[in-house]
Amino acid sequence: MEHGSATATASPNIAFVKYWGKRDEELILPYNSSVSMTLDDSLNTVTSVLFSKELNADRFFINGEEQDLSDNDIAERFKVVGIMRRKAGSADHVLVVSRNSFPTASGLASSASGTAALVYACSRALGLKLSAKELSIIARQGSGSSCRSILGGIVVWKKGRNADGSDSYAKRIAKKEQWPDLIDIIAIVSTERKRVLSRSGMKQTVESSSLFKARAKFAERNSRDFAKAVKSKDFDSMASIIMKESNDMHAVMLDTYPPIIYLNDVSKEIIAAIHGLNESSGKALAAYTFDAGPNAHIITLKGNEEAVRNALSRVDGIRETITAGIGSGPRALSEKDSLIDMERLMPKS
Ligand code: DP6
Repeated sequence: MEHGSATATASPNIAFVKYWGKRDEELILPYNSSVSMTLDDSLNTVTSVLFSKELNADRFFINGEEQDLSDNDIAERFKVVGIMRRKAGSADHVLVVSRNSFPTASGLASSASGTAALVYACSRALGLKLSAKELSIIARQGSGSSCRSILGGIVVWKKGRNADGSDSYAKRIAKKEQWPDLIDIIAIVSTERKRVLSRSGMKQTVESSSLFKARAKFAERNSRDFAKAVKSKDFDSMASIIMKESNDMHAVMLDTYPPIIYLNDVSKEIIAAIHGLNESSGKALAAYTFDAGPNAHIITLKGNEEAVRNALSRVDGIRETITAGIGSGPRALSEKDSLIDMERLMPKS
């Protein structure tokens, strides 16, 4: 192939049943299955790639800044490009230009949407005809949670059993249309960067937490129960699993030695506010969940948005809220949306 280029967009996902802990660090294989919802375009990454004989090195730009490919963290995430290049039998260098349209200083992670958009764009540029299963297996090796962003709707990442990772992939359990009213109200309480990265943090947990050994079992059961609740349209059960899963993951983080503490006082007040709201309503109107940071994701249905906002308005310390709906997964964009200047072989200015 002389020239192969493509542009794709993908969105992050928010985990309802959490992934925290790898049984294989190289292939990124988890101890338990996890479940998430892929968000809509309110938060997204657009990535353009160009494979060409005219390039004499791989180059990677995010939000206009060139990334150092010799940096470990960047190289690990860029690994997916090598995997796809080998699959396609290509020896061409690549230019990757990526842009996150996340609300400024939101403190939200973009690695899942970034990796999913990169994998999706590379597969098209290299002319690889890969299924969602195959794409998710590749994305998984760049960043675990990104494999769930390869599909829209509600998605499970099956932990799998095989040592080669061939059965550890993402699968949709509900289309966006089955849960059109599901929303994530993100309460930003801090814009600081994570103090402990999830990669090293989860390794420390696996090595030092005795509670973690118990978690793997019930997280697996939670994944199955959550899938059942999704199918039977049981928001009440979904909400309780979401909250217990978040609490459980943060409990094993605290049980890690030295402890990993992501939640702050505002996060804890949000937890109390949501329990207060649910108790006074006599049923679950909303669920909170936290990833590797203090920002809260409040999962609810569109009809409950006002009640949730009311409850949140009584919590001091929330800087802003961003509402995202359920998304339909990555998609290719047209050439006019490309972030690459094809004449200069550089990012468009
Ligand atoms: C807390 O997918 O960022 O968000 O596989 O090391 O790249 P790596 O980790 P990453 O971990 C995300 C963990 C989480 C929970 C989740 O999304 O399931």
